[in-house]
Amino acid sequence: MKKSQPSIRHLASIVLAASLFAAAPADAAPEAAVPPAIASMARAIAAELLMHCPLADADDTAALEGCRAGIEGQAILRSHLPAVVLWGHHGAQPGGQLPRVRMTQLAPDTWAQLYAPLFMFNGNHEVEWMPQENLYVIRLEAAFRNRLPPGQFPTPFWHDADQWAAYQKTNGLLLWVQPQTRRIHVAQFTDRAATPLLQAVTPVARAFDGQWLWTDGAGRAQPAVAQFEGLYGAENPHLRSLEKAYRDLSLQMRDARCGECHVPSNPAGTDRLVLLSSPAHAAGEIDRVIQSLHKGSMPPASHALPADDREWLLRSAQAFRDTLRAARAWAREVVGEERASSGPSASLGR
Ligand code: HEC
Repeated sequence: MKKSQPSIRHLASIVLAASLFAAAPADAAPEAAVPPAIASMARAIAAELLMHCPLADADDTAALEGCRAGIEGQAILRSHLPAVVLWGHHGAQPGGQLPRVRMTQLAPDTWAQLYAPLFMFNGNHEVEWMPQENLYVIRLEAAFRNRLPPGQFPTPFWHDADQWAAYQKTNGLLLWVQPQTRRIHVAQFTDRAATPLLQAVTPVARAFDGQWLWTDGAGRAQPAVAQFEGLYGAENPHLRSLEKAYRDLSLQMRDARCGECHVPSNPAGTDRLVLLSSPAHAAGEIDRVIQSLHKGSMPPASHALPADDREWLLRSAQAFRDTLRAARAWAREVVGEERASSGPSASLGR
């Protein structure tokens, strides 16, 4: 596992150079040659992921935390995320088009903090222009941390056995980049990359008991990683009021039956699933929740609410958003101070 970074970077640039060469025959469309700005973005992201999220044992929670701390905040990958990231499984063969089915819509911080760190990287990547999609795809060789404690996954991925099997056998991560904005609009994991598994995988069998949130044997709310303490730091003075505001909101959402559609099992079968089923997911979507209540686009007509209930729901959503802003501002300040005193690797002290 002790691969030195420069040689891997060197290797990655050889791979990249080779793919550039291969992707740019003389008569190709201009986009087929990967422009320097996209190539260097891909190189920088691959190097960042290699530095903070290198291959480790699949149950190594310290490695997970190091990865998460390294890629949040002002990190390079994070800086290329738009207002929403679509996340899902890429089940097509290498070179296949982007399937726009069964994606989950995530706030950029939710994806960067809770999903991306579940993967490990060796720095190898390639970039290709996909004319059918009008997007570049960055293909990173990757592996999945399948042996973490269950509370380290943002949702119980094993509620769907096929999805869990695919996650466990991950051999690549695909980042689909919009050429004009250089933002990653779609991210996918795949078990069908052309490159082999980065390390042997010992699959873990997990049974789903029907609960999106649960309490462990020691009485802690799970998934731990999707709780406010995990997101904003145990010492955050807004934690209690945040938990209370979330409880109010989730009761209102339960009465309004939002959970009949906005849960990982995707009962409505939408291709753009919005999750509201955990504190972290609700926090990531709260602005869109308020907007859609204002516009009247949610809940759908089939689940229409009496005016009073809608008003209460809106008020509790706004109260949650305000508390969230305070908690985030506090966390940002602490991170800023830690950075100033101890360099760029400081985390929220989880
Ligand atoms: C019957 C199923 C159903 C119920 C019940 C439901 N939704 Fe939705 N919701 C959807 C679907 C489907 C979409 C995706 C629409 C799309 O973008 O195509 C959606 C989208 C959303 C979005 C994203 C809007 C955006 O701008 O991206 C939010 C936020 C949302 N719903 C909140 C709620 C809330 C809050 C409730 C409860 C008051 C609720 N929904 C109840 C099916 C449902």
